[in-house]
Amino acid sequence: MIIEKEFKKINVPAMRFFKKNKGEKNKSNPENQSGITRPDEKTKNESTAVHEVTIILEGEEFKVTVPEEMTILEAALEQDIDMPFSCQSGVCSACRGKLLEGEVDMEEDDGLSEEELEEGYILNCVSKPLGPGVKVEIG
Ligand code: FES
Repeated sequence: MIIEKEFKKINVPAMRFFKKNKGEKNKSNPENQSGITRPDEKTKNESTAVHEVTIILEGEEFKVTVPEEMTILEAALEQDIDMPFSCQSGVCSACRGKLLEGEVDMEEDDGLSEEELEEGYILNCVSKPLGPGVKVEIG
């Protein structure tokens, strides 16, 4: 993937998020030393995982319960948090946030520049937490 090559160029020590190519099956990444488990590597017990995500929005901190099948944005909106968004497909970047802690699975990143990706920005409309401890600052 292009993004992985770009990370290698700048010596990013460990990928903190993944972008899946359309139609690509998840594969184990032998270079992944970050402890991230891709969705098809999860056991059946983990398939119904729910993670608490901390969202910082306009200086206020919210705890959002995110079921595995939902994105961070979907879960936040469902829990009545006034999140910014527009396209909900990873293109416009209205939902952009900076990943401060944890790891996410980001399915699309067209709305982010290479610099934003390098700085740890994610698109909440297409990102799902991969484990506990995800913390995102909106903006
Ligand atoms: S709402 Fe447009 S990129 Fe997330």
